[in-house]
Amino acid sequence: MISPQKDNLILSSFVIDWYKSQGRVSLPWRHNISPYNVWISEIMLQQTQVKTVIPYYLRFLKERPSLESLFEATEDEVIALWSGLGFYRRARNIFKAKEIIKTEFNKQFPKNFDDLKALPGIGASTAGAIMSIAYQKSYPILDANVKRVLSRYSNINEQSPSKRDKQLWEVSREVTPMRGIFEYTQGIMDLGSIICKPKEPDCVVCPLNKICDSAFQVKDGLKASKILKVKPIRDIQFTLAYTNSHVLLFKREEKTFWDSLWLPSEYPRMHKITKSKSSSQQTIRQKHQLTHLELNLSINLLRYNKVFKVKTNAEHRWINKSDIDRFGMPAPVKKIILSL
Ligand code: ADE
Repeated sequence: MISPQKDNLILSSFVIDWYKSQGRVSLPWRHNISPYNVWISEIMLQQTQVKTVIPYYLRFLKERPSLESLFEATEDEVIALWSGLGFYRRARNIFKAKEIIKTEFNKQFPKNFDDLKALPGIGASTAGAIMSIAYQKSYPILDANVKRVLSRYSNINEQSPSKRDKQLWEVSREVTPMRGIFEYTQGIMDLGSIICKPKEPDCVVCPLNKICDSAFQVKDGLKASKILKVKPIRDIQFTLAYTNSHVLLFKREEKTFWDSLWLPSEYPRMHKITKSKSSSQQTIRQKHQLTHLELNLSINLLRYNKVFKVKTNAEHRWINKSDIDRFGMPAPVKKIILSL
């Protein structure tokens, strides 16, 4: 795959030296390393940027500092710790994975690649990252940042995504070192996010600029992704019943988005479940972006003097506003509740 004159060891030694002097060595998941901490951080970092993840990671570890403490958590508690971070399937997968570790792995965090990769939410790249960072075993990784670095380094232009990934995995295997695997793995991820950026990579300061096939040549790295993808728009109407102290929320069962999160009633169900009269009414409209959808939210706020019994089979609760941190809910809904 790589031309014979390319010395793969050089790439990793440049990355390791660069990481030691310029990498983000003080990120919280790069200290107090344990397989559990690395797992939680890698799942959070799968689709979210470093600076967004930091407070969520710290809060998760404060509430659930060890695998043993996570064994006790309900699915709701895990999702609540994820509230606002998005891509909630990751939280549900953490819950499922810890149940598997509890029952099938005798409560021990898996130590080999195949067992890790078989857990929900862990693909080949995340399993490789856990093996490299937590156990210092030499395994390749290929997340979005590393794909960019390696495809530029070896000038891969293959258009078919599956063929491209196959070639990139091959390059990744070839350049992954036996020694210094922790620093290499963290370093190549940092290089991808802070130097080898999608648009305008900073080749002048890149430690790979002497061996990279695309150095100083990326003119408009965003060309391919510039084509604006138009997302489907979905109108969704909620009715939020509330009192001075409580809000009425339902656990959403629909799988398309926000599955298992706590949300106001989906209009017009509310009318079927209560005959109580609200004392005031107001409607809030908001747009909210998901990766695959644009939501037009309309939330009808119904104020009541006191809570009332709700006639429904759907899972629901009157939740004290001061307890909402214990329930998983999307950021815009939480914001509205806190503003009531
Ligand atoms: N993205 C995925 N894993 C990461 C890590 N360990 N550090 C920084 N960014 C990452």
